[in-house]
Order: sequence, then C-alpha cells, then structure tokens
Amino acid sequence: MSLQEPAPLTPHASDTDATLDGILTEDKKKFKTCSQIGFYRRQKLLLPGQSPYYADLETVIVDKGITTLQIINQDTKVPLQLQIIPCESIFRLKINEISPLKPRYEVPDVIVKDMATERLSVSQRESGSIVLENPNGPYKIHITAQPFSVSVTADDKLLLSLNSQGLLYFECLVSPQSKSAILESDSDVTKDEYGLWREKFGEFVDIKASGPTSVGLDVSLHGFEYVYGLPEHADTHRLQNTEDNDAYRLYNLDVFAYKVYDKMGTYGSVPLLLAHKPLQTCGLFWLNASETLVEINTRAVPQSSLSRSVPDTRKQRAIPQTEVRWMSESGIVDLFLLMGPSPQDVFRQYAHLTGFQALPPLFSLGYHQCRWNYEDEADVEAVDLGFDLNNIPYDVIWLDIEHTDGKRYFTWDPERFRNPTRMQEQLKQKKRKLVVISDPHIKVDPDYSLYSQAKARGYFVKDRDGQDFEGNCWPGTSCYLDFTNPAVRDWYAAQYALDSYKDSTEVLFVWNDMNEPSVFEAPEMTMPKSAVHYKGCEHRDLHNLYGFYQQMSTFKGLIQRSAGQERPFVLTRSFFAGSQRYGAVWTGDNKADWEYLKISVPMLLTLNVTGISFCGADVGGFVGDPEPELLIRWYQAGAFQPFFRAHAVQNSKRREPWLFGKDNILLLKRVIEERYTLLPFWYLLFYQAHVSAQPVMRPLWVEFPKHPESFGEETQYMLGSALLVVPVLAPGVSALDVLFPGSGERWYNFRKYECMRGPHRKKIKVTLDEIPVFQRGGSIIPLHTRVGKSTGWMDGFPYELRVALDSKGFAEGELFLDDGHSFNYIRDSMFTHRKFALQKNVLSSSSADSKGKYQSESIVERVQLMGVKKQPLEVILHSSGVKTNVAFTYSAKLCLLSLESLSLCVSTDWEIHIRDK
Ligand code: GLC
Repeated sequence: MSLQEPAPLTPHASDTDATLDGILTEDKKKFKTCSQIGFYRRQKLLLPGQSPYYADLETVIVDKGITTLQIINQDTKVPLQLQIIPCESIFRLKINEISPLKPRYEVPDVIVKDMATERLSVSQRESGSIVLENPNGPYKIHITAQPFSVSVTADDKLLLSLNSQGLLYFECLVSPQSKSAILESDSDVTKDEYGLWREKFGEFVDIKASGPTSVGLDVSLHGFEYVYGLPEHADTHRLQNTEDNDAYRLYNLDVFAYKVYDKMGTYGSVPLLLAHKPLQTCGLFWLNASETLVEINTRAVPQSSLSRSVPDTRKQRAIPQTEVRWMSESGIVDLFLLMGPSPQDVFRQYAHLTGFQALPPLFSLGYHQCRWNYEDEADVEAVDLGFDLNNIPYDVIWLDIEHTDGKRYFTWDPERFRNPTRMQEQLKQKKRKLVVISDPHIKVDPDYSLYSQAKARGYFVKDRDGQDFEGNCWPGTSCYLDFTNPAVRDWYAAQYALDSYKDSTEVLFVWNDMNEPSVFEAPEMTMPKSAVHYKGCEHRDLHNLYGFYQQMSTFKGLIQRSAGQERPFVLTRSFFAGSQRYGAVWTGDNKADWEYLKISVPMLLTLNVTGISFCGADVGGFVGDPEPELLIRWYQAGAFQPFFRAHAVQNSKRREPWLFGKDNILLLKRVIEERYTLLPFWYLLFYQAHVSAQPVMRPLWVEFPKHPESFGEETQYMLGSALLVVPVLAPGVSALDVLFPGSGERWYNFRKYECMRGPHRKKIKVTLDEIPVFQRGGSIIPLHTRVGKSTGWMDGFPYELRVALDSKGFAEGELFLDDGHSFNYIRDSMFTHRKFALQKNVLSSSSADSKGKYQSESIVERVQLMGVKKQPLEVILHSSGVKTNVAFTYSAKLCLLSLESLSLCVSTDWEIHIRDK
C-alpha cells in the first residue's frame, strides 16, 4: 500500500457510527450492571445504621505494636478478628474470620515491604470504648464497642471513621452441605435469587464452590468534599456521587470502544481512593483483587453529628462529608489508611506499600508509532524511512498480532516477516526499537512448542473440573497461562531469552495485551470466576491481578535477557495496584472522537495520582478515522502526556504523520519535535516519580492543594510542578478559558516568554499551531537545544536552561542524567544529578546528589531567563576559579535575558552572576 495515500476504508466496526453504535449497544449488554451482581444485591440488603457488629473490648491484645481484638456479629454470634497494624502515617486494618473453613484469599505480591510496625498502646479505656495512640504521633485510634466503629483523629480532629454507617459486611464461609434446602434440591438457578451458590448472567452460570464470600465496609471522610482515584473508568477525575444501582466498578474487562462518563469497569483496577481538603489529603487503599464496587456519597452534615466516639462541643454548622462504601466479592477486609497530610505524603506512603514507578528507558519517552498492523518487513521499512524523509523524530515502531505465525506469540509470520533479525538490525542502526505484542492466551496446538510445554507442565489455568480451561481469543481456542504461579512466571520470563525467542534481538521490547484476561464468548468477555489457579485459588479471588502478574513476568524476562543489565519496557493493558513497578499502561480501545480526547486527560490524571505515572491514551483514537484537526489536537495533547504512542485499529485509514498534507505535516512534526526538546525534563520527572513517588502528570489540586478552585479542574494540568498544559479538546476552538492557579504565581508563555499577569482566569487565544503551555515562575526546566532522529541520536546533545523567575526573583530546577538504559545508575551510581538555582541574581549549578559518578561531556549551551526586569550591566561566569564575561541579549518588552553560545559543562559546578548595578 502506498504510504502517501490513506487507504480506502474496508468494512469494519469503524465504518459508520451507526454500525459502531449498534456494536456498542450490543456490547453494553455483554457487561453487568450493578443490579445484575449477586454480592451487590446481597450487601444492599444491609441498611445504614443497623450494624450487627459489636467489638469485644475484653479481647484487646497489643503485641509488638499490633492491636488485635474480636468483633462479633450479634445475629450469628460468629466472631471476626480485627488487626490494626500501624506504620508511621499508615494504619492497616485487617478483618478476617478467626477460623475459616479454609484460608480466605489474601492478596500476595502487591505489597513490597512488610510494614515496620510502630508502637501504639491503649491510652484510654472506658466502658464501651478504647483509644490507641503513639505518644509521639498526632494520630489516635478510637474504637467504639457498640455498634462497632473505628475513628481516626489527627491532633484531636476527626478525619475518618469506619463502620460509622454500619455497613461492615462479612460473609463467613459455610460448608456446601449447609446450603439451604431449596438451593440444594432445586436445579433451577433462578431460585438462587441472591447468587449465593449459583449466579446466572445471560447464558452463563457461575457456580460458586465456596458459596457466598463477600466483604464490605463503609468509611466516612469528615470534612472532605473532593475524592479521586479508583482507576480505571472513562470518567471524570473527581469521583462523582453514585446513584441507586450504580457504583464505581473495579473489574478488569476488555471493553472495546468503551462508553465515556461511565463507572463500569474497564481494563485495570487500582483500589486506591484519595480524599482532599485544603490542609489534609488522605488515602484509602482497599487491598482486594476480586470484583469490587465502590459507592460514593458526598453531602453536607451538621458538624456535631460527626462522631459518637469523639465528643465535639463546637457550634453546629454544616460541613461536607464523603461516605465511601467498599464491597468486594471475596477475600478479606484489608484496608490501609494513608494519613498524608499532604498529597505528596500520600503518594510516598502508597509507594512505600506498592512500589515506585519503574524508571523507563529513555527511548520509551520518545514517540511511538503503532497500528494494527504494520503488515510486513517492507511496510516497517517504509514507515521507518517516512520519518527520515520528513525529518520527524521517532523511537519505536510496533507490531501487533498479525506479525506472528497464526497468533502464536513468540513466533513470526513466515511470509510477512521472513527476516526479523535483519529488520531489527536495520532499526538498531537507526538507533530505534521494535515493540511486539505478546498476549497471555496460548493457541491450543500441540505443534506449538509454547503450548505443548505449558500443557505438559500443567501451567494453564484450570476449569472447575480440573481440566485446562479453554477459551476463545485471537488465535481461536486457547489456554491461559497461570501467571499467579511463580514457576509459570519464571518459565514465561525465560521465553524472552534471546536464544529462546527466535529472531528476537535486544532492540525488541514487549506489549502485553488482552490480559484482563479477555476471553471471547465468555461471561463479560473474561475468564469464568470458577476457573482455578495455583494452589486451588478461584479466579474470582484474584481476577484483577491477572494482568499485573503477566507484566511482572515479562518485566523479569526482559531483565534476565540482558543478564540484569538493561531496563525493560513493557506496556500492559490490564493492571492493578503496583503495576507501576513493571512499566507502562495505556487506556485501551478508545475512539477517534473528540470526547475520547477529552476523557483521556482525567483518565491519565487518575492513573497518575494512583501511582501509575507512565500512562497514555492511543493518540488519534484507536477506533475510526480522525479528521486532521482531531489528529493534530491529539498529537498536541499526547506530546504532553507521559506515554506518547499513536495507534489505530485494523483496517482504519493509514495515519502516519506525513499523510495529511504539507501544512499538517509541519504541525505534527513541530509537536513531536517539541516532545524531543523536552526530553530532559520528562526524564527528570520520571526520575522523581521513581525515587520520590511524585506523579509526572499532576492535577492542579496536587500542586495547589490550598486553592479550592483547582480541585475540580480536569481540562488542564501540570507536568511536574513547572509546566501548566492546556490541551485543546474540542473542534474549532479559537480561545480557551485558562485558570492560572495559586496566588501570587507568575506564569510565562512557554514559547513566547511573556509573563501572564492579571486575573486568575483568562481567555487565551489559540490557533491550530499549538496548545497553550505555561512555565511557572520559580522553576528551571532543562531542554535540548536541538533534536535528532531518535533519542539515541541525542546522547550528548547540548542543553538549554529555561529559567522562570518568581515574584522574588527566585527559581530552581534539576537535571538527571545517566546512560538512559541500564541499571548502572543504581548499581554503580553512574548518574549525574544537578541542581540549578537562581537566587540574588546568581544562577548556580551544583550537585544534587554527591554519590553520582557519571561524568557527562554535555554542555549547557543556552540559558533563557524570563522575568528579568532590568537590563544587566554585565553577566559574569565563575567556573573553576576563573571569571569570564558572558555575552547576552536583553528584551525589555519580554523581560527576557538570553545567554547564547555558552559552553558550561553539565557535570561541574559554576555560577553566573547577573550584575545590574
Ligand atoms: C486490542 C488492543 C488493541 C490491539 C488489538 C489487536 O483491541 O486493545 O490495541 O491493536 O487488540 O491486538
């Protein structure tokens, strides 16, 4: 196919909106609504204020910092055990049966560190309540016996309480013999109205080996009106109140062209909710991997009704309160309270539990070119050349499922990809990479060695009768690797070894897709919950972990492939809490429609505040054909989002960036180049996410936590704390209403240097050329002064420092450098981490981390200082004991001081003195 002309459309889902709408309506029926979920209906029978639970305070034991006590259901008399495990500003509360019929599922492998417990002791004991506290900390835990509730105060202010609505719910395991007579004798599943042992959905029946196992709990967040988190939903960043029969669903599902502004589950789940008010941020992390529903209800309450356990004598006034009700199908109650108090504290606390963002190899922060499919080697070569001919940088070309031999992963189509090694060699010479897809379903084919080996070793998930579970996916009938088994993960990881994966080379990286897992023609297009995993665990217990484990195993495989030297790149569609440790996530099958461009912003912000910084949406929209304006706006947004990949569905029109006419090529080229110019800044942001858990892409409330006008904002956002990005999210826009957040802040037009003053909200003119980006006064951003064909060509390219003065004439920033691909920055301290500061008219470069041993030869070639009010008399460089005059230009109109043709080594200390008198 000629690359100059978009191909004609062939009949496909993307053909017409009518067809697509039909498919979507059909699709909607494939997925459950809340009222079709048995455990939801059962939990909803429990009404607020009627908790059957009381705490037996006589049973309280405090041992090695862990408090244990019994809570008893007064109807059934069955006792549960509550454990409270404190660790600095985190409290873990676990509720489990004391002696269950068999062990209930507790999520393994997500928490990276055992909690170092700190001491809490009983500080007050009254009839009916006790208080636990650490005399050195601000927090107290108040436990009330009847009805059972737990409240947490900080400096005696009530922050949150558990079971204060009385919605603690715990279905203890019962033996199958104790099924009620009706269910026992009657084969008509419709009689099991609440889905205790059997649950019907359409043509599918879920048979529950353990019967009802659901758990739930309510948490009241006092004084909190704004809550966020709980990805993944194609919905607003701020969580909305849920209605009757409506809840945020956390159940990983393959939802093609998902509906926007919807709470149904999509591909991944992170059961972390953040609550924010001006001086306090808290996190609730509900560690449960089974299907989970979360109801939210924010309302105003009279202050005095806040708590029964903490007397409050202040005057009555209405304050906001958010009720969160967690409901899971199985497992235990395992809730972490992250007490903050700042957003940054909550991010750090969460990362200490679930891990930090993996530091991506530098190439993966460049631009990625993907479609389903690049057809053959000639196609790959032509697309690769297209970038060179048009002088557009790019780093990675992607191959979708058609590159394999009949959807057998780890193989190549013998006709289309006859010499994959040569193809990769050519890419390598151009300092570019290849990403190939590798899905978790394995074609049932005794001649396919991956299948026969896994079969022989018993590595597939089983059905409830103990046979290998067979489902249908891209290759036809397939089995599914049981990644929950560590031996399977090791074996799968070993498949990525260069000598096992035929014709793979070290420039090949991996894309794990369909790993919810997607099973066609199965209940909700996924694996039946009765399927059986390692150690006999039911799929129901761990469904949301499946994709997490596949990515974990692929990540390990790529590390082992290089004998532990190279940082992997693995993209996954399905994810769970902790997936940030293994690579990148994308938001799946969106559509080439403006509303999907718009929703990409809150979706990515939500992923970022729940630990997953390395995320992106398919640029251009996966399904359908974007018109040029949409495509351009999408590239302009995508270039300012962490993972920047264009992707398109099979049979959509070709959309390589040079196919849209001369003017449009220039616009696309310009924004891709801008991405490359900003790579030093992106790399620094990822380093900060990696070491200190600060999200790369930040909602305004994170940077301006005291300014309520920023709390609901989701059409603009920050990159790090320095850049304010305002993507254009609708057609025909000629002006945008921009919020310049904070007070006393200065904002500089990133490309034209002018300082924005005046009102908080301002109309900003826009053209098709670019989206508005502003640099915050007080920041220094490192940039490259020119771009290469890919990141590999830019090694050693010179830098610019873009210095934006705040109202006090101050600015600071950093630069982090290493080889961009290995682990030597950790192992041998082979990095340079610099700190730049402008203070009292002196710009200095000093070490931010003296351990760094990497000596970069690169130079800072240019310094642009924005907000300099007066033309200097002279500018003097102090370096290695020598003083030299520096040539400069000054624009009084822009208040811009430019120092060009510098040659400042990035690895050494220097100072630039700006003398204006
Ligand atoms: C799924 C993925 C999509 C991919 C396709 C074929 O729909 O979400 O990105 O192109 O499968 O592998």
